[in-house]
Amino acid sequence: MSELARRASARILTATVYTSVWVSVAASQTMGIIPLPVSIEPGDGSFSITRATCVVAEGPAAAEASKLVEALAPALGYRLKLVGNLPAKGTIQVKVEPSLRERLGEEGYELEATTDTVVIRAGAPAGLFYGIQTLRQLLPPAACGRQKVDGVPWSVPCVRIRDFPRFQWRGLLIDPARHFIPVPDVEQFIDTMALHKFNRLQMHLTDDQGWRIEIKKYPQLVQTGAWMDFTTIVQGKAESKRPGGFYTQEDIRHLVRYAAERYIIIVPEIEMPAHTGAAIVSYPQIGLYPQKLNDLPVPKRWTAHEGVLAPRPQSVAFLQDVLTEVMDLFPSKYIHIGGDEANIAHWKECEEMQGLIREMKLKDEAGLHSWFIRQMDAFLASHGRKLVGWDEILQGGLAPGAVVMSWRGEAGGITAAQAGHDVVMAPTSHTYFDYYQGPSQTEPKAIGGDLRLEKVYQYEPIPAALNADQAKHVLGGQAQLWGEYISNQKHRLYMTYPRAAALSEVLWSPRASHNWDQFLTRLAGDLERLRALEVNYRPL
Ligand code: ACM
Repeated sequence: MSELARRASARILTATVYTSVWVSVAASQTMGIIPLPVSIEPGDGSFSITRATCVVAEGPAAAEASKLVEALAPALGYRLKLVGNLPAKGTIQVKVEPSLRERLGEEGYELEATTDTVVIRAGAPAGLFYGIQTLRQLLPPAACGRQKVDGVPWSVPCVRIRDFPRFQWRGLLIDPARHFIPVPDVEQFIDTMALHKFNRLQMHLTDDQGWRIEIKKYPQLVQTGAWMDFTTIVQGKAESKRPGGFYTQEDIRHLVRYAAERYIIIVPEIEMPAHTGAAIVSYPQIGLYPQKLNDLPVPKRWTAHEGVLAPRPQSVAFLQDVLTEVMDLFPSKYIHIGGDEANIAHWKECEEMQGLIREMKLKDEAGLHSWFIRQMDAFLASHGRKLVGWDEILQGGLAPGAVVMSWRGEAGGITAAQAGHDVVMAPTSHTYFDYYQGPSQTEPKAIGGDLRLEKVYQYEPIPAALNADQAKHVLGGQAQLWGEYISNQKHRLYMTYPRAAALSEVLWSPRASHNWDQFLTRLAGDLERLRALEVNYRPL
């Protein structure tokens, strides 16, 4: 047993009572709720769920209540009866009370468990959904499981909880472009996110290694671009053939719906003007030297010009066509266009691009990059959407409506927030979950770095350099599961948990309540839940 594991289990056994001013802490230690709620007042006794227990809900609350019934059914071995109205005793009541929205926001809730009833109230259905996740976590961990368990007393400790999130953007990124992720694996990823109250899933759908989303107007994007045929590094070995794949538009609609039912917005990422190799392979006319590319056989096109496209007006129109279909599929207000790591030196060497810079009276290649991003920004804005890009979109001047995702440290986020732009903090230092999480000698091969659980837990998304007004532009944070070295779901989950449990608390719980030792205690319960759910994780 590792030192961390020993400390976590020792604390569970002794159930230490802290004399902290933070009243909720002592109770929450034994309850294993992650992320920690805003306030918890423990009571005496418990509420028992039996076959006779009814769930009472009406109107919009009924849809959320039925999710509770379905979530508990596998472990209980039966479905709790869902009814519209009943006397209170012995029931779980799920209610929307619009007046609560003012105090708790869209996502907040109150949960009160007494020996007679459990009542979950919220101002909106999203809050009920989160109250239900907390109720699942108040039950023994096996209640979250997929197997029927006999002989467990299904009891909820008496408690009063008031809760709402600190940040509105609580995200994780997955990367089906590097290694395709089948639909059922995405569903499992979404389910586990929802249990930890995450609400944004960024899907990195396109990159040099693969284009993963069907676009009707440009069928070659998946017919050619989803099937790369050369080696990559997986766990230190060269894979002879990369299995490709893509999501049909039907798959995408399904996933968007599946996520929305769990209050997760899927934010699509369509990379441009770099990381665009698979698109250039499929449609050489958006590349720098179309004629030369057309003359090459498909396999030889993959590495041309590091996947940097030519931002000529025809390429802009091509990508706006793509975004039109993307907007049709994804209701997300935010559409991510990448914007990172463009080696714009290729534009310096290209006569046509130099002509474009002169013609449009731009300063240089950075100006051309900025011009290109502005075309996308204006296009998305004209359709009521907001452009999100990695912090390189600051180079050459930020597009007026852009939201910046700060990955190369905090600097991009600080500059953007100071200029009045919204930002999402996603720095390599604390949120790159493709990095090692233990000694590299004993961990599965990773891309590099060293990002341990405690460092994730210590993360503060609001940079110290921002004043209170500027800090309001920090929408939240997001962790990245880049897929170069992650080729299957078991490994993906190993890289995600428990670090995502730590991040969920960073993004949801009040800063003043953060306490590493108490988190470790509650984490023991969370890991038990993950075991019951058959979700892989890295043992402590
Ligand atoms: C990135 O990691 N290139 C955003």
